[in-house]
Amino acid sequence: MTTTSPAALAAPAAPAATLADAAAYAAAVKTATRAAAEYYATGESTLDDDAYDRLARGIAAYEQEHPDEVSPASPTGKVAGGAAVGDVPHTRPMLSLDNVFSAEQLAAWTASVERRIGRTVEAWSVEPKLDGLAIAARYEGGHLTRLVTRGDGTAGEDVSHAMGTVVGLPQRLSEDITLEIRGEVLMTDEQFERANAVRTEHGGAPFANPRNGAAGTLRAKERAYTVEMTFFGYGALALPASGAELAARLGDWPHSRVMEYVGGLGVHTADGTAVAPRTLTTADDIQARIEEIAAARPGLPFGIDGIVIKADSAVDQAAAGSGSRAPRWAIAYKLPAVEKVTTLLGVEWNVGRTGIIAPRAVLEPVEIDGSTVTYATLHNPADMTRRDLRIGDRVTVYKAGDIIPRIEAPVAHLRTGDEQPITFPEVCPQCGSDIDVSEQRWRCVRGRNCRVVASVSYAAGRDQLDIEGLGVTRVVQLVDAGLVDDFADLFTLRREQLLQLDRMGETSTDNLLAAIDTARSRPLSRVFCALGVRGTGRSMSRRIARHFATMEHICAADADALQQVEGIGVEKARTVVAELAELAGLIDRLTAAGVNMSEPGVPVPDARTTEGMGSDTAAASAAETGGDAGPLDGMTVVVTGAMTGPLEKLSRNQMNELIERAGGKSSSSVSKRTALLVAGEGAGSKRDKAEQLGTRIATPDEFAAMVSGFLDTAL
Ligand code: IVH
Repeated sequence: MTTTSPAALAAPAAPAATLADAAAYAAAVKTATRAAAEYYATGESTLDDDAYDRLARGIAAYEQEHPDEVSPASPTGKVAGGAAVGDVPHTRPMLSLDNVFSAEQLAAWTASVERRIGRTVEAWSVEPKLDGLAIAARYEGGHLTRLVTRGDGTAGEDVSHAMGTVVGLPQRLSEDITLEIRGEVLMTDEQFERANAVRTEHGGAPFANPRNGAAGTLRAKERAYTVEMTFFGYGALALPASGAELAARLGDWPHSRVMEYVGGLGVHTADGTAVAPRTLTTADDIQARIEEIAAARPGLPFGIDGIVIKADSAVDQAAAGSGSRAPRWAIAYKLPAVEKVTTLLGVEWNVGRTGIIAPRAVLEPVEIDGSTVTYATLHNPADMTRRDLRIGDRVTVYKAGDIIPRIEAPVAHLRTGDEQPITFPEVCPQCGSDIDVSEQRWRCVRGRNCRVVASVSYAAGRDQLDIEGLGVTRVVQLVDAGLVDDFADLFTLRREQLLQLDRMGETSTDNLLAAIDTARSRPLSRVFCALGVRGTGRSMSRRIARHFATMEHICAADADALQQVEGIGVEKARTVVAELAELAGLIDRLTAAGVNMSEPGVPVPDARTTEGMGSDTAAASAAETGGDAGPLDGMTVVVTGAMTGPLEKLSRNQMNELIERAGGKSSSSVSKRTALLVAGEGAGSKRDKAEQLGTRIATPDEFAAMVSGFLDTAL
C-alpha cells in the first residue's frame, strides 16, 4: 500500500466535454448554470466537481472556437459560475483562481508570470487549497462585526448570523485593529459527522459532503440547532477605517508575513497542520511540496481539493496584476476529484474471520482518483440508519489514495421516490445462527466458530505461521473431518488421523506434520497475528510483541497498558482486551502444545522488577529494555521494488519484520520522515520521490550488509 500520490498527481485532468454544435453548447450552458445556481442556493449540485469542470472546460473550448456565439448566460469568466447573489459590496473584488492540472502546466504558468513581470519571482507561497467556501470576515477595532460570502466577487451575502459558530474566527482579535480577513469556511470530518448526526436527529436529510455541509449551514438563518464549522484564513486586507499604518503594512508585506501576522491575531490558518504553507523558490522544491501535500491529503481531518501557489512578495503581485475573474499571481494546482456521485445498487453482508457481519455497498461503477470503484465500505447498521441510506439512492462516494472507498451520504434532493429501504439480515448470512446486535458492529453469535476455515487458513498463512502445504482446500478437509475446530488443533494432529484423509499419502502427511512442527517456533509477533485479534494486523502485531515480549504479558495487560503501544487508542485497546479474553482458551491450548510465546531479541521483563507493579509499568519496562540499539535505531525505512541477493526470498512482511528487528520502523510511503529507502529493481515513483526529498537510498545488497546481524532471524 502506498499513500503517496505521484500517480494521482500525474493523472491527466478528465477530458473537457466535447460540444459538437450550437445546440449542444446551449444545452451545456443551461446545465452548467443550473448546477451552479443549485450549488449556490443549497450547497448541493446535480453535478460533481469533475463533471462541472469538464462541462465548463467544454463550454470554454467551444467559445474559443466560436467567439461570435458566446451566450450572455455562459458561466465562463464569471466568479461562481455567475450564480451568486448578494448585496454587501466587497472593498476589493473577491476573485477566483485559474487552474493547472500537472507539473508541466504549472511550470508553463510560472514562466508566463515571470515573462509578464520581466524578472524571476522572488518567492512562491505553496499552500493547501481548502475545500470550503470563501468568506470575508470584517473586524472593527478588534471586534468581529460582519461575515460576507464571496457572492459574485463584487458583492456577497451577509452571513453574520454564523458568527460564533465558526471555530478559528475569534470574536476579538489580540489587537484592536480594523481589517478584513479572508479565508475558507469548511467542516472538518468530525464537524461533518456531528452536523449530520444533529441534522438527522432533527428530521433533516444528511449533507452529502463536508463542503455542502458548510455551504448549507453558513446560509441557513433559522435552524433549531447549531453546528460548528472551521475557518482557515488565507489573506488579509485593509478596510477604509484601518488607518494608514496598518494599510501600508498589509499592502507592503509579503503574503507569508501577512499570514504570520493574521495567525498572531488569533485567527486560525493552515499553519501548524501537515499541509502548512511554505515559502519556496525553486521549481523542484515547489513540486516536492505539492507532492507532500497530495500525499498528506487522505490523512487530513479536513478536505483540500488542490494546492495554491502564490507569488509571495507584494511587489511581484502588483507587477503581475489581476484579471476580472482571477489574479495573475496565483494559481490552483487541482488534485484529482476524490468524490463522485453514483448510485447505490445494493448492500452485501459478509461475515469476516472473527464473525463480524460487515455490510458493503455495491455501486454503479464510477471512476475516482484513477481507479474504478464498485464497492464501498458501510460502517454498521446503526450508521446506515442514521445516514438514511436507501437502495437506488444517488450517493457521494469518497476515495483518496489507497484508502478504501466510503459513502459519505445520499444526495437527498435527487431522490425520485423509487428508492427502497435496505433490508438488514435477521440471521447470520454465513451459518444461519442468531446475530448478536448488542454492539454497533453486528456479529454472528458463533463468533470465530462461524468462519473456522477462514480463521485457520489465515493463521496458517504466509505472514502468520507460514505452514507450507496447508492451503484452504486442506483446511476444509480437516474441518469437515472434524479434526480441527480452531488452529490450536493443528498442533495435536496425529499421523494416523491425517493418513485417513483423501489425497493424503505418507509423504504429504509427513511434510505437513513437519511444517506444523516448524510453525511451533515462529516468533510471538506471528503467533499473535495468527490469532486474528480484531483491530490488529501484521505491523500492529509486531509492535505489540516487541512492546510486551511475551504472550503472558500481553494477556495480562489492561486497556491502559495496551494504549502505550503506538497506534492503539482507547477504542482499540478495549477491543483487544475483550478479544484476548475470548481467545484465552485457544492461547492456553497453543501454549500447552509447545507453541513459542515470546519475541526473539526482546528481553522478558524481570519478575523481580515487575512484581507488584501495575501491568502498564511492567509493559513499559519490557519496551524500554527492548534489546540493544540496532543498526536502524530510530530510522523510518521504506522498501520498494524487487529484492535481490540475500534478501531475494523475503516477502514484504518479512522485510518489515527485519527492519523492526534491527530497531527501525517500517513504512509504506516516502515522506520527509523517511530516513532510508531500500530500492530494488523496478523501483518507480517511491524512488523518484526519495530523490526529490534527498532521502538516503540503498540497494538491497547495501541494506543486507547494514542489517547482516539480523538476517537469520528474519527467515
Ligand atoms: S487565494 C485572490 N488561497 O479557492 C486569490 N484561495 O477556486 C484568491 N481557496 O476563491 C484566493 N484555499 O475560496 C486562496 N489557500 C488559498 C485557498 C483559496 C481555498 C479558495 C478560495 C478561492 C477559490 C478559488
